[in-house]
Amino acid sequence: MIKKDSKIYLAGHRGLVGTALERKLKSEGYNNIITLTSSQLDLRSQKDTNEFFEEERPDYVFLAAAKVGGILANDTYKAEFIYDNIMIAANVIEASYRYGVKKLLNLGSSCIYPKESPQPMKEDYLLTGKLEPTNEPYAIAKIAAIKLCRYYNEQYGTDFISVMPTNLYGPNDNYNLETSHVLPALIRKFYLAKLLQEKNFTEIQRNISIYPIGYGLDKEIVKEDEESIINVLSKVGITSEYVEIWGTGEVYREFLYVDDLAGASVFIMKNYSSSDIGEVINIGTGEDIKLKDLVNLISELSGSRGSVKWDSSKPDGTFRKLLDVSKLRSLGWKHQYELKDGIQKATEKMISL
Ligand SMILES: NC(=O)c1ccc[n+]([C@@H]2O[C@H](COP(=O)([O-])OP(=O)(O)OC[C@H]3O[C@@H](n4cnc5c(N)ncnc54)[C@H](OP(=O)(O)O)[C@@H]3O)[C@@H](O)[C@H]2O)c1
Repeated sequence: MIKKDSKIYLAGHRGLVGTALERKLKSEGYNNIITLTSSQLDLRSQKDTNEFFEEERPDYVFLAAAKVGGILANDTYKAEFIYDNIMIAANVIEASYRYGVKKLLNLGSSCIYPKESPQPMKEDYLLTGKLEPTNEPYAIAKIAAIKLCRYYNEQYGTDFISVMPTNLYGPNDNYNLETSHVLPALIRKFYLAKLLQEKNFTEIQRNISIYPIGYGLDKEIVKEDEESIINVLSKVGITSEYVEIWGTGEVYREFLYVDDLAGASVFIMKNYSSSDIGEVINIGTGEDIKLKDLVNLISELSGSRGSVKWDSSKPDGTFRKLLDVSKLRSLGWKHQYELKDGIQKATEKMISL
């Protein structure tokens, strides 16, 4: 039973998932949460991680620290993706065992299920087929973390749980158009298109100063030069007439508002142990949307009057990626944010910074 003053170590508190977990824990009155940035404690160092655990002796651990990125980053920094993620997981899990952590919740990801997995994806489909080659280093490290939790439980009697969230979005997301995931990229693109239609260059400049465009284009933007802004935005497919999107839009994706993930994670941490959960548990809505419909929804919500230009020469990616959430539902948990509300909240948060 977690008490309000139980010592909780939240690893990765500045990330998309970590900030949502901190909001949720604080809103439920947990008042003894320890957080450190990666420069204060680099979890790749076993020595530093052990010293921290020995001194602090947390009761509960949320492991939301990881090296995360899109296809391009995964492809460019393959060695870092496998090394950093294996080291972070191995060090935190070993230290949690060594220094008597009561329960640990490890963040896996739905992107580590096999590339050709049957749909919807059940928990026991893990490791039943080849991985998606573009993120194999990351996936191998995340699978190692899941297996570490499982085998520490089996050998040492620890209580380490792994959850498998679907695609997440929400406050504190990555809006860099080069490295972001599809949903935050769409939110931002349509927002910028609407500002262009309104000729609101002041707000465009403010937005660009907070969130980089990426692709090395930011240096081409000359402050208070509208021409340079129009040029750069058109290079990433944003004009006042249209927004360009990769692929055909004929694929399906599932999305979960990150506060729902935090809600489910805290719910599981409070009420269940690894013996109830098994090796992993999926966390999602169990509902997907056609990309074309998602684009139309975001376009409508943004107030943009432009059209959508599909670039069908670009790849679509996997046809469908949907989680089977029957295990989670059987525990009595269901998401609260429907896609439309989540997108509106995420957009408000992006604009308000
Ligand atoms: N985003 C998604 O859609 C999604 C979906 C499914 C699962 N997940 C999983 O959720 C977890 C968190 O993802 P996220 O999207 O929140 O990532 P994120 O926004 O990139 O945040 C990553 C966090 O990890 C910390 N970190 C990175 N390297 C570290 C190191 N060497 N030592 C200590 N801390 C380090 C960072 O700390 P600093 O900020 O201090 O550098 C940051 O707080 C990951 O395991 C990911 O696989 C994410």
